[in-house]
Amino acid sequence: MKTKDKLLLRALAGETLPTPPIWMMRQAGRYLPEYRETRAKAGDFLSLCYNPELATEVTLQPIRRYGFDAAILFADILLVPQALGADLWFVQGEGPRLSTVQNAADFAKLKPASDIHETLSPIYETVANLTEALPKETALIGFAGAPWTVATYMIAGRGTPDQAPALKLIKDEPEVFDSLIELLVEATSAYLIAQIKAGAEVVKLFDSWAGALEGYLFAKYCTRPTARIIAKIRERYPDIPVIGFPRGATEGGYIGYTENTGVQGIAIDSSVDANWAAENLQGKACVQGNLDQSLLVTGGDKLISETKRIVEVFSGGPHIFNLGHGITPDADPKNVEIMIKAVRG
Ligand code: CP3
Repeated sequence: MKTKDKLLLRALAGETLPTPPIWMMRQAGRYLPEYRETRAKAGDFLSLCYNPELATEVTLQPIRRYGFDAAILFADILLVPQALGADLWFVQGEGPRLSTVQNAADFAKLKPASDIHETLSPIYETVANLTEALPKETALIGFAGAPWTVATYMIAGRGTPDQAPALKLIKDEPEVFDSLIELLVEATSAYLIAQIKAGAEVVKLFDSWAGALEGYLFAKYCTRPTARIIAKIRERYPDIPVIGFPRGATEGGYIGYTENTGVQGIAIDSSVDANWAAENLQGKACVQGNLDQSLLVTGGDKLISETKRIVEVFSGGPHIFNLGHGITPDADPKNVEIMIKAVRG
């Protein structure tokens, strides 16, 4: 099979397909018993990310079990801050913790973007392994966090409900904030280019906290940095498709982002009305989404009817079936099978 024949790449090239390609955000993860077993073998989550053999294994697990049309590299968006010199650790049951960047002195301690490969080279090895190990019809997605979302974690030192610490830094120390975004644009471009060089066929930028940016701040700190990263990728790899995920953006935000970043795929969260997206986004890019991930916990008829509704609404244009956000640890693996059957008929 030629690379361009893979369903995911055909949809991203703008083709309307009889059955949309399907994969899931966080498809390798704690809802799968085989993932929990491999993570235990690695010791902890970060050791798993940096172990190419085991990270390859967990990337393949959902492909073996479900035959998804795409595999997403197993890693995390917070590896980039770590590669820039931030301390990073995960507290069981709570989430990530990082050393914070809150003033010029903290920023000065970070490493230059060109240093990241030293820490991140095992990730490129995982990508290279996957190009050998994946079935020929499965596309390989690389990824990174977008600068704004990664900055929110670096500034607060953890996840926050409203991104208040990052929004406060924009007001109090705009030069420090802008320098951090600039560093992340450089580091993220270099990271994604290295993933593509190792064999990633598509890359995705996760801007999970884009919804906290209002008005001109959305254009300035979500759309523009993403556009700059994509332009840098294009200089080296003009034909690699990019999927963007400005989670929680307003309707106007989603339109501006789709028009101005250069993405081929626009991932939408579950709060976006599918009919609106079919009408307003699908003519500009391939739409990815947007089943409510909680339906994989609750299952039943609603899971089937919602899955079929989304497939139907997007059937007139390029579409990748996915969730509105990541699958949660309490999801039932059997419900994933039911969802796939409803998509593929
Ligand atoms: O299967 C995949 O999707 C690939 C791997 C992947 C992970 N994280 C593995 C992971 C991807 C693409 C991510 C992206 C990521 N990481 C995002 C953006 C997407 C989103 O969810 O909005 C964000 C914000 C992070 C940061 C992060 N990583 C948090 C906040 C947490 C803790 C919360 C949680 O869900 O546990 C993580 C941990 C994490 N990343 C896990 C996995 C499988 C769970 C770790 C474990 O095994 O204990």
